[in-house]
Amino acid sequence: MARQSVRYVCQSCGYQSVKWKGRCPSCGEWNTLVEELAERGKVLNLGTGAKVLPLSSWEEESFERRSTGFTNLDAALGGGLVPGQVVLIAGEPGIGKSTLLLQVSDRFTKYGKVLYVSGEESGSQIALRGRRLGLSGQKLLLYPETLFENILGVIEQEDPSLIIVDSIQTIYSEKLESSAGSVSQVREVTFRLAELCKERGVPCFIVGQITKEGAIAGPKVLEHIVDTVLQFEGERYNFYRIVKVIKNRFGSTGEVAVFKMSDFGLEEVLEPSAFFIGEKVSAPGSVVFPYTEGSKPILVEIQALVLPALYTTPQRKTQGFDVNRLALLLAILEKEAGIFTKDSDVFVNVAGGISVREPAADLAVALAIASSKKEKPVPEDVVLFGELGLAGEVRAVHFGEFRVREAQRFGFRRAVVPSSLDLRIEGIETLPVSTLKEAIDVLL
Ligand code: TYD
Ligand code: MG
Repeated sequence: MARQSVRYVCQSCGYQSVKWKGRCPSCGEWNTLVEELAERGKVLNLGTGAKVLPLSSWEEESFERRSTGFTNLDAALGGGLVPGQVVLIAGEPGIGKSTLLLQVSDRFTKYGKVLYVSGEESGSQIALRGRRLGLSGQKLLLYPETLFENILGVIEQEDPSLIIVDSIQTIYSEKLESSAGSVSQVREVTFRLAELCKERGVPCFIVGQITKEGAIAGPKVLEHIVDTVLQFEGERYNFYRIVKVIKNRFGSTGEVAVFKMSDFGLEEVLEPSAFFIGEKVSAPGSVVFPYTEGSKPILVEIQALVLPALYTTPQRKTQGFDVNRLALLLAILEKEAGIFTKDSDVFVNVAGGISVREPAADLAVALAIASSKKEKPVPEDVVLFGELGLAGEVRAVHFGEFRVREAQRFGFRRAVVPSSLDLRIEGIETLPVSTLKEAIDVLL
């Protein structure tokens, strides 16, 4: 097939060249020139000649949403899949992406055929997994293929109601010279797939393997092409799995769906709080934090362990929490509360494999550390949240009421909250604090 003309575009400054160069002559960055097709359509088919209307006259689009077959995933997506919606699902190898999508595919066959394109596993491997999961699948079409142009043909021919591409890194277009998995291939294929999905009104899941650095598909560049980005989290050797909505053009971000990996695939967990604090122990260093980045809070257990340092450079290790944020909290603990950890190793762990990025966890993490250091447990009937400022002040955070209500629902009697939030909720006492010191005095 004749090659369409290509150009090389600097990913850093946008400089274009007809030849590949190791270093961008415009911005001086190395290895930033990436092959792209010279002419391209638009992903959003807005067309030309659109109307100009005041905001008040635009009606909200109503979508006919289709269920993924999992109530929690539908809820996290904002009510199911929208026609033409392109969803990137990213996660480390072995976490369960293919398993989840195979289950979704099977359940989606109630709407028609589902095309599962796999460039990672052979048809018989997937079929074996399908049988293990108890799927029958007359309408579930497995297609082990990596050449994009062939996949296009099959989509035309089979007219599926859902497309799965597992994984985007294995698919390549013959229009580009670079190999599968390169930035240009991944971008090109995603772009054209998105175009096709919009045109046909078919939703699609694209699997993106996360590289060691944690970037999605190597190329973070996919994020702006797709409508929705889901991140699959959890520890491989633990059975909790969390799907987080990182971006969503058809719903809110921060929503989560919790699953449990069983011998029969993924099962949805409808009461995640019960799940995450189910094994909590009453020991120094353990606290309960109502976590939320979306509208549904989940109670999670945060654990800290402070021990005399083993080596001259004390260790700071975290799981599910940012290690730089920990360094900051240790500095605040020292300066504002007189809790010294200079000669101690400090470990912080969010139980269950969920990772907590919101600053609202600061107060809980700081208290877990203080509690371990002082060898005094935080009372069992308490939850706490709040962001910490550098002067040790406790700052307001979002979703205060949702968090406290979730704690009340699970029988907690007291919630330590930022004093600037005016929260009064029946059945639970709120203890407003304005500084870290105050929180430590109240709880330890
Ligand atoms: P997989 O879906 O292949 O992960 P990914 O596509 O993200 O690379 O998940 C594979 C893991 O899940 C593997 O370690 C086995 C485990 N698993 C179960 O525990 N139960 C099951 O029913 C299935 C199908 C897989
Ligand atoms: Mg897989």
